[in-house]
Amino acid sequence: NKKVILDVDTGVDDALGIILAVQSGEMDIVGITTVNGNVSVDTATNNTCKILQLLGVEQQIPVVRGAAKPLLRKPVFEHRVHGEDGIGGALRDMPVHTSVTEGFAPDYIIEQVLRYPGEITLIMTAPMTNLALALMKRPQLIHEIKEVIFMGGVVKGVGNVTPVAEYNMYVDPEAVKVVLHAGFPSLTLVGLDVTRQALLSDAHITELGDTPIGRYVKESTSDYMKRYFERNQVQACALHDPLAVGVALRPELVTTHAYYVDIETRSELCDGQTICDFQNRLKREPNVRVCTDVDADAFLRLFVQTLRT
Ligand code: BDR
Ligand code: CA
Repeated sequence: NKKVILDVDTGVDDALGIILAVQSGEMDIVGITTVNGNVSVDTATNNTCKILQLLGVEQQIPVVRGAAKPLLRKPVFEHRVHGEDGIGGALRDMPVHTSVTEGFAPDYIIEQVLRYPGEITLIMTAPMTNLALALMKRPQLIHEIKEVIFMGGVVKGVGNVTPVAEYNMYVDPEAVKVVLHAGFPSLTLVGLDVTRQALLSDAHITELGDTPIGRYVKESTSDYMKRYFERNQVQACALHDPLAVGVALRPELVTTHAYYVDIETRSELCDGQTICDFQNRLKREPNVRVCTDVDADAFLRLFVQTLRT
C-alpha cells in the first residue's frame, strides 16, 4: 500500500477525501495533518477526528495539528460554503474522544518522510502553509518525499473565491510560491479545471444507500450543494478534494502535462491566481504536472463504489 499523509482543512469535501482514502483500503495513512483554511485549525482538527471516529479508525491514524494562520496573511474562513462547523452541521452531536497527536504538522511531515525516505505521497487539500514551513526547515525534503499531489488552482477557467483565484491558493499564496519554486521532482496540480467535472449528484448520494457513511454524505453536502448551485447553476457539488485522493489512488484517471506554473502574490485583483505557461513564453523549466483532463465518470464510480463497501 502507498504510504500517504493527508494535509487538510476539514471542510465538507476534505472529509469526503478522507473517507475515500480510508475506505479504499489501498492506502497506508501514516497521518493526517491539519491547517487553518475553511475553518480554524482547531475546528479542522476536531472535524478530522470526528470523521475518523465515524469510520472507526481513530486509533489507527494519527491526527496532528498544524499552522493556525497563513504565513503572512490573515485567515480567510469559508463558513458560507462549508457551514459554521465546516462539515455542514453533520456529526454536530458527536463527542470527540480522539486524542490529537502531540507536535506540529510541518515537523510531523518531516519526521515521517525521514522515517520512510522516498515512500511518502503527500496529498494536500488545503492551503499550503504546513508544507511551506516544512520546506523552510528542511529544503532537501523535495528529494526525500515521493510525490506531492495538491488540490488547488485553476489554469484555464475562472476562480472560486475571486474571479481568478481558487480558494486554497488564495488563502496563502506566499506558501504556494515556496512550494512551486522548491524544486519538487513530482508535484501534481489537481485544479478546478478538473475538479469541477467531478460532480456528485443526488443520484450518487442515493446510490450510497442508507448506511452511516451514506447518511453522513447526504447531510454534510446538503447546504454545500445549494451553494454550488447558486454559483454554477448545477444541481450537484464538485468533489474537489476527493479527486486529489482519486489521483493518488488511480493516476490513470487524469491526463497530465508538465508546465511551468507560478502564482500571483502582489496584485490587488489577481492575488492567488495560478499562471500556467502553456506556450512556454517565460522559457522556464516545467515545475508542475498539471491535470488537464479527467475521466469524471470513472472517478465517480470509484468514489461511490468505495464508499458503499
Ligand atoms: C478547495 O477550497 C476549499 O474550500 C475546499 O475544501 C477545497 O479544498 C476548493 O477550491
Ligand atoms: Ca479543503
